[in-house]
Amino acid sequence: MHCSEALNIHWRASVIQPIWLLALLCIHAFPSLEVATNLMGKPGEGYYIEVEIGSPPQTFNVLVDTGSTNFAIAGALDPNVETYFISLNSSTYTSHQKKVSVLYTQGFWDGELGNDMVYFPSLLAPQVRCDIAVIKTSHNFYMNGSQWQGILGLAYPVIARPDHGVVSWLQAIQHLKNHQSVAFALELCGSQDGGNRQTGLFEILETGIERTELWTSPIVREWFYELLLLGISIGNQTIDLPCRKFNTDKTILDSGTTSLMLPTEVFSMVVKLLNSSLMDLSVPISSDFLVLQKMYCWNDPVDWAHFPNISLSLAHFDNSYIVLELSPQSYIRKVSDDSELPGAQHCYKFFIESSKTGTVLGVVVMEGFRIVFNQSGKTIGFAESICGPAVSLSGPFETETDIKSCMNPTPLPSVSPLTVAAYVIAALTSMYGVLMGYVTCHWLWETYVKHKLPRSSSETSILNSN
Ligand SMILES: *[C@@H]1O[C@H](CO)[C@@H](O)[C@H](O)[C@H]1NC(C)=O
Ligand SMILES: *[C@@H]1O[C@H](CO)[C@@H](O)[C@H](O)[C@H]1NC(C)=O
Ligand SMILES: *[C@@H]1O[C@H](CO)[C@@H](O)[C@H](O)[C@H]1NC(C)=O
Ligand SMILES: *[C@@H]1O[C@H](CO)[C@@H](O)[C@H](O)[C@H]1NC(C)=O
Ligand SMILES: *[C@@H]1O[C@H](CO)[C@@H](O)[C@H](O)[C@H]1NC(C)=O
Ligand SMILES: *[C@@H]1O[C@H](CO)[C@@H](O)[C@H](O)[C@H]1NC(C)=O
Repeated sequence: MHCSEALNIHWRASVIQPIWLLALLCIHAFPSLEVATNLMGKPGEGYYIEVEIGSPPQTFNVLVDTGSTNFAIAGALDPNVETYFISLNSSTYTSHQKKVSVLYTQGFWDGELGNDMVYFPSLLAPQVRCDIAVIKTSHNFYMNGSQWQGILGLAYPVIARPDHGVVSWLQAIQHLKNHQSVAFALELCGSQDGGNRQTGLFEILETGIERTELWTSPIVREWFYELLLLGISIGNQTIDLPCRKFNTDKTILDSGTTSLMLPTEVFSMVVKLLNSSLMDLSVPISSDFLVLQKMYCWNDPVDWAHFPNISLSLAHFDNSYIVLELSPQSYIRKVSDDSELPGAQHCYKFFIESSKTGTVLGVVVMEGFRIVFNQSGKTIGFAESICGPAVSLSGPFETETDIKSCMNPTPLPSVSPLTVAAYVIAALTSMYGVLMGYVTCHWLWETYVKHKLPRSSSETSILNSN
């Protein structure tokens, strides 16, 4: 069936819940107010939004993911999800009689491709009919306790599974707007005070009403949201590598990945510089923390002044760039709350990881910015948000470097099933990293802190106890 024929549109403006309407009106009327939120989640487990699928509507939460394109929802009982979509109970569901699956090294999901009415009560967007992957079996996909049961992929059709003929939710919205490209914004706020809940805002934007000035970076290829990373600095030291290394094989902006992931060679340089700047300040910190992403627990909060800022330079125009500056609170995160781990109140994890599939600018980079994904302008726009960790945006700066030389010269990689799958893995490993870290931490606490360090003092100065 051709996609546009399948489109069946119902405006449900009257059904927009008053509270959301109020919230959205507030944002537009009083930009200085706090960011209204429609995204929630637990740190390290992604941001999700509420969705209604089918008729009568069945309500779920789905992970907001700019690193994939399919809309997929749990469609069978699973020990890790509380609820699932029952297609038989929806009078508007139609099946494409086609299988769809995503396979990755640590797991998979597969299911049936169909379509149904999809509506997000918190968005000023109409109900649309789009393709849905109804997940029948899966392994290591859901996260117990995460509260989400599916995924909303917001990237381009090229990477949709099983092929680019799938009508994503964003495309369905575009068809409705006479094939005009749609822009959307993500404003991820993280958790206040290192707590166990994070919030954010996802908005579909009408052309021309963007209220803040944006520094833009071009989308160099339209599949993932691929950008060009021109340089990285740790404090005032610059990573001395040819800029192409940063983008091999690509640099993408992905809300479905927690960490900042860097190509192996770049990652080792970052760790080296970070390590040496910590050494300079005589902060002995185990390499395990930086290299193996192990979680560390201290009795007192980390003194952030010991850690340098990290700056990422992104292409702006042909000979200029903009700089996103992240403070240590962005890349070193508190990963547990007091109740879970009596005694060791302050556990932290390093959220920069090495990657074999290029650079992934994950949640760690996105938090603190308002980010506008503009498909018609082929740009990603950045502004400082009023929420989230302290970050700053500066530029544009002129550069003599030929920006095109920073691009990985391979043609648009053929999108094999494996390429796409890599991103789901990235998302999962970095999320599961937290859980493994928790175990490490618990172990550390049990065997080291508790027995060998009776309460105060230690040789490490960031363990500075009262
Ligand atoms: C999921 O988490 C809950 C509460 O933490 C626990 O009781 C349950 O056994 C877990 N389920 C699985 C499949 O791990
Ligand atoms: C689905 O339909 C069955 C049979 O009509 C009904 O028993 C069940 O409660 C329905 N489930 C939901 C979630 O609506
Ligand atoms: C770089 O930072 C270090 C320590 O923060 C400082 O000692 C040094 O003077 C700085 N170098 C420059 C060129 O700013
Ligand atoms: C950090 O620096 C110390 C001292 O120079 C060195 O022994 C250690 O191996 C370094 N760790 C890493 C991960 O580079
Ligand atoms: C997207 O980019 C186009 C072209 O630069 C511009 O006209 C449009 O206003 C932008 N949309 C938003 C929401 O920023
Ligand atoms: C680090 O970054 C934060 C936020 O971007 C900024 O406020 C702060 O001044 C920076 N610190 C240094 C030492 O540059």
